[in-house]
Amino acid sequence: MAIPAGLGRVVVIIPTYNELENLPRVVGRVRAATPDADILVIDDNSPDGTGRLADEHAARDPKIQVLHRTVKDGLGGAYIAGFTRALEAGYDVMVEMDADGSHRPEELPLLLSALRDQDADLVIGSRWVAGGKVHNWPRSREVLSRGGNLYARTMLRFHLRDSTAGYRAFRRTALEKIGLDEIDSRGYCFQVDMALRSVRAGLRVVEVPINFVEREIGVSKMSGNIVGEAMWSVTRWGFRDLLRR
Ligand code: GDD
Ligand code: MN
Repeated sequence: MAIPAGLGRVVVIIPTYNELENLPRVVGRVRAATPDADILVIDDNSPDGTGRLADEHAARDPKIQVLHRTVKDGLGGAYIAGFTRALEAGYDVMVEMDADGSHRPEELPLLLSALRDQDADLVIGSRWVAGGKVHNWPRSREVLSRGGNLYARTMLRFHLRDSTAGYRAFRRTALEKIGLDEIDSRGYCFQVDMALRSVRAGLRVVEVPINFVEREIGVSKMSGNIVGEAMWSVTRWGFRDLLRR
């Protein structure tokens, strides 16, 4: 499927850390699903050589670029680096997508259509709205995600059902309005941080249902530290907003 007309230039930003086997699959699927979109891989010097493999793809395909960072510095840091590069390069739409196949590239046209047809600034591919699904997650992970989202929605008083989701499409104007300089969230709480900043900035945030498919290859980089940072951050942001009222 083509990119809906009128959206301009689209770049799919894919952060990687040890995704050697997943990278060629996701890249192939993105190229097939949205041939007009460019791809920007952000690799944090993966020990398994994902960065080198990404370079080989980039050498063969002008629509693929790679940004190398020297150390593993979290999902948030990777996306800030990627957004900054994409803004400089003049893209109109920046997509966030995991490398492990959980975010199906075949559903990207749905996100992009919503961005255009619902006049949104940010579209979130949501697991927890009607029609959204998660495939192959252990019960413990579902509880963590549902619980985390309930906590965020309650503390931060917004309408979003899946503010931790990592499948998203931003308009460049949204990123420009949010401003990336002050964001210090390193881990997955970056997703909640960006969602909150978008809502507070008065941007139009729309959730569309997706089918999230748990990875079959490699391991999740989620950790107790990442969960802890997210809980602590959401708590802090919630009280900060209360005090401001
Ligand atoms: N460059 C870089 N640096 N990439 C990273 C880092 C990092 O420090 N940490 C993780 N990644 C990449 C992974 O290689 C993968 O492509 C993507 O980020 C997601 O990582 P996973 O480890 O597969 O995440 P998950 O499946 O546990 O978590 C999912 O749910 C989270 C919470 O709902 C993802 O969809 C997250 O985006 C989401 O926030
Ligand atoms: Mn994953």
